Amino acid sequence: MNKPYVILHMVTTLDGKITGDFLSGKTAELLSEDYYHLHRWYNADAYLCGRVTFEGSFTFGRKPDTDEFKNAAVEPGDYVFGKFSKYAVAIDTHGRLGWDDNFIHDDDPGYDNAHIIEVVTESTPKEYLAYLRSLNISYIICGENAPDPHVICEKLSKLFDIEKLMLEGGGITDSLFLDGLIDEVSLVVAPVADGGDGIPLFNNKNGGGLRFKNAEPKPLPHGGIWLRYSN
Ligand SMILES: NC(=O)c1ccc[n+]([C@@H]2O[C@H](COP(=O)([O-])OP(=O)(O)OC[C@H]3O[C@@H](n4cnc5c(N)ncnc54)[C@H](OP(=O)(O)O)[C@@H]3O)[C@@H](O)[C@H]2O)c1
Repeated sequence: MNKPYVILHMVTTLDGKITGDFLSGKTAELLSEDYYHLHRWYNADAYLCGRVTFEGSFTFGRKPDTDEFKNAAVEPGDYVFGKFSKYAVAIDTHGRLGWDDNFIHDDDPGYDNAHIIEVVTESTPKEYLAYLRSLNISYIICGENAPDPHVICEKLSKLFDIEKLMLEGGGITDSLFLDGLIDEVSLVVAPVADGGDGIPLFNNKNGGGLRFKNAEPKPLPHGGIWLRYSN
């Protein structure tokens, strides 16, 4: 199978949490800047996140207005609007994300100006697919009811020529790729642990987990450690 090289890139606490108080305040801002700097340094063709992360970081809870597409006829199959230099890939199998454009607009040049690709399934409401087409947002159908990570990787490679993919959360989405699809892990580890009930880096079991041959730890300017694992 042709697939992109997948890099899991996340900020965690010492106890492997990806959410919590550690993400607010001045120190967190500086650690996040180290994280965004590394994101830009990797210079990947695409970044992929789950619906919850997209809502929090890019659509800010906007709901899709699908009323006018209730009885629309939708051509079967994937919808490829075009090929671009950067993509933002959202797993949104229930069709919950509301968009106003087919590109991401973000202050950070690492995320800005990425063409949106939605990962949907055969059971995603047809009116939502019509809504995406009306906005020229690409979508790929990957599975019957649940997203199939192997199909996602194959279609991103085949239909959009994506060679390097940043997998950027949250915990549910990261776990989906545990089935042998993650080639490298890049963690910005914050010097904190709160033992709270934050979301863990992997929040589900899927496949055999991860084992790497090489670990490269490097101190970062603001107290964090960059832990890079590869084969
Ligand atoms: N520390 C970091 O570096 C970092 C990075 C990214 C995100 N985060 C944080 O992570 C939190 C969100 O994490 P999360 O795990 O709750 O959510 P998430 O992974 O962002 O999104 C999960 C949602 O995506 C869809 N989805 C993803 N994988 C799926 C699967 N295998 N099967 C079915 N649906 C799937 C589902 O949407 P539906 O429910 O609509 O079906 C699911 O509820 C946010 O607070 C965010 O700020 C932290």
